[in-house]
Amino acid sequence: MAKAAAFICSACGAAHAKWAGRCDACGAWNTLQEESAKAGPGRAPKAGRAIPLSGLDAEERPAPRAASGMAELDRVLGGGLVPGSAVLLAGDPGIGKSTLLLQAAARFAARGLSTIYISGEEASAQVRMRARRLELSDAPVRLGAETALSDILATLEAERPGLVIIDSIQTMWTDAADSAPGSVGQVRAVAHQLTAFAKRRGTAVILVGHVTKEGQIAGPRVVEHMVDTVLHFEGERGHQFRILRGVKNRFGATDEIGVFEMTGAGLAEIGNPSELFLSERGQPAPGSVVFAGIEGSRPLLVELQALVAPTPHAQPRRTVVGWDGGRLAMILAVLEARCGIPFAGLDVYLNVAGGLKIAEPAADLAVAAALLSAREGEPLAHDTVVFGEISLSGALRPVSQTENRLKEARKLGFTSAILPEGGKPGPSGGLELTRMGQLADLAGGTFGAG
Ligand code: TYD
Ligand code: MG
Repeated sequence: MAKAAAFICSACGAAHAKWAGRCDACGAWNTLQEESAKAGPGRAPKAGRAIPLSGLDAEERPAPRAASGMAELDRVLGGGLVPGSAVLLAGDPGIGKSTLLLQAAARFAARGLSTIYISGEEASAQVRMRARRLELSDAPVRLGAETALSDILATLEAERPGLVIIDSIQTMWTDAADSAPGSVGQVRAVAHQLTAFAKRRGTAVILVGHVTKEGQIAGPRVVEHMVDTVLHFEGERGHQFRILRGVKNRFGATDEIGVFEMTGAGLAEIGNPSELFLSERGQPAPGSVVFAGIEGSRPLLVELQALVAPTPHAQPRRTVVGWDGGRLAMILAVLEARCGIPFAGLDVYLNVAGGLKIAEPAADLAVAAALLSAREGEPLAHDTVVFGEISLSGALRPVSQTENRLKEARKLGFTSAILPEGGKPGPSGGLELTRMGQLADLAGGTFGAG
């Protein structure tokens, strides 16, 4: 048999016949790793057997789910864990993955799901120590410290648990691949065998994956394709907030987030995240604007902070934390082209408070308001929320769930809102609404700029 592509890019998973310093698929450097020919699922083909086929109208019962009782986790999973499903929990080292999963394991186990926690990174004594600190020592979770996948699978075959947690996939190794633990070949082979076990025995499997500085799951992006659900655990070091985000889910929506706060006694669920994200808000200041956002099914108010200052550099800086840099460039271009407000010669910094990442286009208008407020040195009224999408023409577009956003704003004591015209008018809920058709209305009307 001819040897197939033997080098896999650990960043994007592209296969290459030859080694090269740079992956020509994604452009990453030093990411190509050799994969042995016998790695991976496809070894010598066996004679096939006929598989049963069925019609499209076959009766399908919804998969029964196991809920942990941690609402912030269950929501992101789509209502709980589906038996036989494979979940990847990815995040930076030290972000709190082991803590979260030990807490989740205890909750699942306490609700009668037989749960095994395999640690390849820490000795059992260390995990027990963490359990004591989290006051979970009494939970009926069974613990193993092992990195040899064959021994783990033999144990699982004998025990047939409802849930197994593998912490982490990078520490596990199998004979099915020649390369070192943590290499792409190993991680792929381990993930393949564990997901196959999950399907075969109906055991839910949660794999922990560390991500690298570049935000990629070390070793394999490919694991993302092999599992049913991918969750990212995010947060800024030095901030106590942690966000659990669904980025892929075969059994539920992917736009849900779970919000947690790190405490000395582990992760605490935050049922009303708006309060938390606004808790650090100081006095009214230029550049500070509260965006009324929606994450999944939940409204979420968050503070945006902008700083605009004359630049000493030929090329002004554009620095964004928690939002899309390309989108910021677009808003700056629209402000200049449609409102006549230039940002040339000015450094622009934009920050989403609390370490949250926002992807909604509905944040456009709030970003524009923060930029204008910072540029003009004029604070926006402290009790105002802003939301709306901006088009390239400078027109404002209504966004979804206007009522939910307004309701959350009122609940948290805001008294007015700036939003686009059009869409369903809906009740204002007692808020004073300023509806605008054009970005120029905000620039000229609210800030007297342009
Ligand atoms: P850990 O769960 O070990 O992170 P990961 O498995 O992602 O590498 O957590 C890292 C450290 O933070 C650990 O020393 C425990 C501490 N920690 C807390 O004190 N409280 C918390 O709520 C969390 C999540 C972590
Ligand atoms: Mg860990």
